[in-house]
Parts: sequence; structure tokens; C-alpha cells
Amino acid sequence: MKNRERELRDAYRLARRTAIEAGKLLLERRGSPFEISKKGPVNLVTEVDLAAEELIVGRIRDRFPSHAILAEEGGSVDGAAPIRWVIDPLDGTTNYAHGYPLYCVSIAIEFADELVAGVVYNPVARELFTAYRGEGAQLNGRSISVSAEEGLMDSLLCTGFSYRREEILKNLRLFNRVMDHARSVRRDGSAALDLCFVACGRFDGFWELSLHPWDVAAGSLIVREAGGSVTRFDGGPVGIRDPECLATNGRIHDAMIQVLTEAGP
Ligand code: IPD
Ligand code: CA
Ligand code: CA
Repeated sequence: MKNRERELRDAYRLARRTAIEAGKLLLERRGSPFEISKKGPVNLVTEVDLAAEELIVGRIRDRFPSHAILAEEGGSVDGAAPIRWVIDPLDGTTNYAHGYPLYCVSIAIEFADELVAGVVYNPVARELFTAYRGEGAQLNGRSISVSAEEGLMDSLLCTGFSYRREEILKNLRLFNRVMDHARSVRRDGSAALDLCFVACGRFDGFWELSLHPWDVAAGSLIVREAGGSVTRFDGGPVGIRDPECLATNGRIHDAMIQVLTEAGP
């Protein structure tokens, strides 16, 4: 194995270990009072988001000081190596702050701007979703795949809403339209888990308008490795720095593109 490949494998191992460690921290801290601040009118950040990020960034810096890091709460560092970690220490902060038990830790690794590995850990359900490029996706070590559903009308979908008012209104119009064509639509509050639920077939598809790299990096690789499709709403190629994301089992992808892009109110 070449040195670079060995380094990426080591990093992937650390990502899995650290996601579980940070997930335990989220669980431990949820019982006691924690400080909640507002990043915007409705966008929250808790001291637990910050503590989880500090833990994850600290572990990476100790083991791989030359790696670059892009982390939601500002713990980002430029690095000399072409390896970058993309971290959401707590995806589903609003759920967490309200005691709604659906949130996770999301960690992805990029090499030369391409996703190589993704790890999403839901500490409440003790579910670890993982993927390494070209090697499929797993849930707690067992291989997973997207659903076989072919009909949009028989599909269960999920979406999420941004914290920005105009984007919320825009997505409400899409929500309305999709509801006419699908079995139902959920809004679960954690984009990383929404994507993993597409990867393991619980949802047949997911879309959202205004995401950040840390929301989608790990989950989108996990969907692709589970056999799903991830694109822009119009079917064009999407990167983690694009705000919109359509992820499906592949079979309902064209139908979703049609509904999301059709002209209408
Ligand atoms: C949010 C969640 C939510 C999505 C928002 C994200 P946060 O991340 O993933 O499901 O709808 O767009 O910003 O703030 O909980 O890390
Ligand atoms: Ca997030
Ligand atoms: Ca977050």
C-alpha cells in the first residue's frame, strides 16, 4: 500500500473512532443544562457543538498536524497536505437543544478536493454510517444499499429548511408540489442523517436548498457508495460546496428532477 493510501486509511480509522467519541460527549452533556446562543434569529449553537468540535479538531491536529480542516463552528485550519477534513460536530442542533433525539456527528475526508471517506454517527440509536470511496457503504459494519422503490407516488421523502426566510418560503413551495406526487415528506432536522437514511433505504429521496459543505460531505459519499444518486435539482453534477442537493435511490431521480424543476408557483 502506498504511503498516501495508508495515510487516508489511518485518517478514516481516526474519523470513525472520533465520531463515536464525540457522539458520546453529545449524549453525556444532554442531561445537564448547557448554554445556547443564537447565530441568527432562529439558528442556534450550543456550548456542546463547540465542545464536540474542539474534541474532534484536537484529535485530528494531534495525529495529522499537516491536514487541513473545515469545521462548522470555526475550528478550521489550512494545511500543507492535500487532505482536508470536513466536520459538522453536531448536525441537528435545533433538535438537540429541544431534546428531540435525532442528531449526529458528521466527518468527511477529502483528498485533492475529492471525497474519499465519510462517517456519520447517531449516538442515540448507536448507528455508525460509513463509506470509503469505491468500497460501498455500511451501517455498523454491515453493507447497506438504497431502496428499490421505483414509483415516486410510493416513495417516502425527506427535506430540510434553511434558517433563511426567503429560502424557507421557496422550499415550502417545493414541499407543497412534492406532496402531490409522493407518499409523504418528512422534515427530520439533520441533513447528514437524512442522507444516511436514503443510503440505507429508510427514505427513497431527500432534497434541500441551502446546505453547507459540513452538512452533506459525509452523507453524500455514503449515499453514492450505497448505490444512490446525488445531483443538483436539475440533475447536474453537485459538489459539497453547492448549496442545493437532491439525493435519491437513483430510480426515482428523474421523477424528482421533474417535480423540483417544473415551472410553477
Ligand atoms: C442543519 C440541519 C438541518 C438542515 C439545515 C442545517 P445544524 O444543520 O442539517 O436539517 O435543514 O440546513 O443547517 O445547524 O443542525 O448543524
Ligand atoms: Ca449541519
Ligand atoms: Ca452543526
